[in-house]
Amino acid sequence: MPLPYHQRTHNCGELRAQHIGQQVLLAGWVANHRDHKGMVFVDLRDRYGMTQLRFGDETPRVVLEEARRLRSEWCICVRGTVAHRGPGNVSPRFFTGELPTGEIEVVVQELEVLSESPPPPFDISDYTTAHEDIRLEHRYLDLRRPGLQRNFLIRHRVAKTLRDYFDAHGFVELETPFLTKSTPEGARDFLVPSRLHPGKFFALPQSPQLFKQLFMVSGFDRYVQIVRCFRDEDLRADRQPEFTQLDLEMSFVQAENVMAMAEGAIAAVFAAVLNYEIPRPIPRLSYREALDRYGIDRPDTRFGLELHDVSALAGQTEFAPFRQALEGGGVVKAIVAPDPGGKVLTRKTIDGLVEELRGIGAPGLPYTKVVTDEQGQLKVETGIAKHLGSVAPSLLDALSARPGDVVWFMPGPYASVCKYLAHLRQRLGQLLQLIPQGQWNFLWVIDFPLLEWDEQERRWSSVHHPFTAPHDADLELLFSDDSSRWGQIRSKAYDLVLNGIELGGGSIRIHRAEVQRRVFHVLGINDDEAQQKFGFLLQALRYGPPPHGGLAFGLDRIVMMLTGAASLRDVIAFPKTQRGTCPLTGAPSSVTEKQLAELFIRTIPPSK
Ligand code: AMO
Repeated sequence: MPLPYHQRTHNCGELRAQHIGQQVLLAGWVANHRDHKGMVFVDLRDRYGMTQLRFGDETPRVVLEEARRLRSEWCICVRGTVAHRGPGNVSPRFFTGELPTGEIEVVVQELEVLSESPPPPFDISDYTTAHEDIRLEHRYLDLRRPGLQRNFLIRHRVAKTLRDYFDAHGFVELETPFLTKSTPEGARDFLVPSRLHPGKFFALPQSPQLFKQLFMVSGFDRYVQIVRCFRDEDLRADRQPEFTQLDLEMSFVQAENVMAMAEGAIAAVFAAVLNYEIPRPIPRLSYREALDRYGIDRPDTRFGLELHDVSALAGQTEFAPFRQALEGGGVVKAIVAPDPGGKVLTRKTIDGLVEELRGIGAPGLPYTKVVTDEQGQLKVETGIAKHLGSVAPSLLDALSARPGDVVWFMPGPYASVCKYLAHLRQRLGQLLQLIPQGQWNFLWVIDFPLLEWDEQERRWSSVHHPFTAPHDADLELLFSDDSSRWGQIRSKAYDLVLNGIELGGGSIRIHRAEVQRRVFHVLGINDDEAQQKFGFLLQALRYGPPPHGGLAFGLDRIVMMLTGAASLRDVIAFPKTQRGTCPLTGAPSSVTEKQLAELFIRTIPPSK
């Protein structure tokens, strides 16, 4: 029988004991249905929650018969009366607050099936064990799951809070083009062929970096945009080829101003979504200190296990890997992991870690265990114990080691030692359960180097991007012809890190054309190339550019942290897989010869 579904009286998360006796009209999807003692019970789901429907004695016979036909995920509309479930039948989840409608049910008088559904390819619940590819192929069903819907409601709240915050601070939301010219942010570009200009290509923006700088030249003073960015890079759980930034830029500012504005924004988001007040000011760590202590420029500071430089003592041993590393200008660093009962860091686990590190390129992972001898003195046992010889006591003293500790060493060039030990530290933190859950450790990392040496390409490259300003005190180094000192130039860049995830990054920009030209030069971009790639920026910088700077947050990453999602795919409505594909639409896909011909493109099959 047709029901006026357009006149729903309530949603499926709304009814409570106070509505008992009222006649209601609900619509939604059949989440569960069961026949019980001649009655039919249905859990009706919509975005707002779940309500139990009862088709029983009070239900007309034909309606009860129709209800017996219902199957999961059919879309239905019902009219009925709200009733108490009875003292013994109240859902236990009502008392835990998980099911606010759990005290009542709707005794149905009328039912209309609005549309049927075949059995869904997987269980539409937060406990589904279906493979992600199947879920992504039927993403519209996957998105019916309450947990995912919650993620997107939070995403909406985050975007709304940010828009309100920046609006209140005088920012103007301005749009920038998607069909544009490459802006280097360190990844590959996605290219779009031009039909009107054969052989020419647009690049999808890796970020709106240059356009937002041009807005500053135009005098907009404070710009913000929630904007899609595109980067053709290797994917990880916290990286998508297409992702969203909250991008901002400000004129007449120094790093302090931008950082304060960004802190306010992230604090507003955490207050709005989690009712959590971020302790401010957010602590700061220099890039150098972050690397020295944690081996990484985005450390998870929720736990210790800091790195120790033991080069001096290691140099006194005869252990060949230590000596070789030091003679080659490298370092020896150590991590001390407490495992008092010796239960976690078993031989098997240690072998697993050694293997894991080998997987990321570490040649080996020397270690030893700390024990006490008969006199109660600390000594080392197993692993490289014998190679430490007489240096062991001083080493243990320097490391403040205790019985039961496992000491791990890494000899080699500074950068590789940092990389391997940062990985090891994170894994040890997990294995030893040292990472407190439910804790938010925000951190600014500052004083990044402007440039880093790219050994593979054999040239200098930007640590942030080529438009980042050097420290005023280091300008002299930049203009010096002694390229060996370029690595010492500090930049006015800053990253915001949360529990080891980079949430955002930005910098004060170069606003003087001659400095920008010099940076291009140092990066090996000659005048012609600079003119061809960035001529429009250099030109704009001639016309009274204000000093300016900004930052971009990874919006998806913020939502990932707030929702506790394990991957960005759980907070992006239609994400790409780890292989960069979309199982829903089948993209990327082949196109017709005609389409290619129109674009003057011929494809070359990859060589085997
Ligand atoms: P950056 O490259 O650091 O800076 O990017 C800013 C933030 O964007 C997020 N992010 C990503 N999120 C998901 N998937 C990706 N592939 C991805 N890449 C980056 C991160 C990161 O911190 N134009 C500069 C900003 C500026 O200088 O103002 C920029 O894009 O959270």
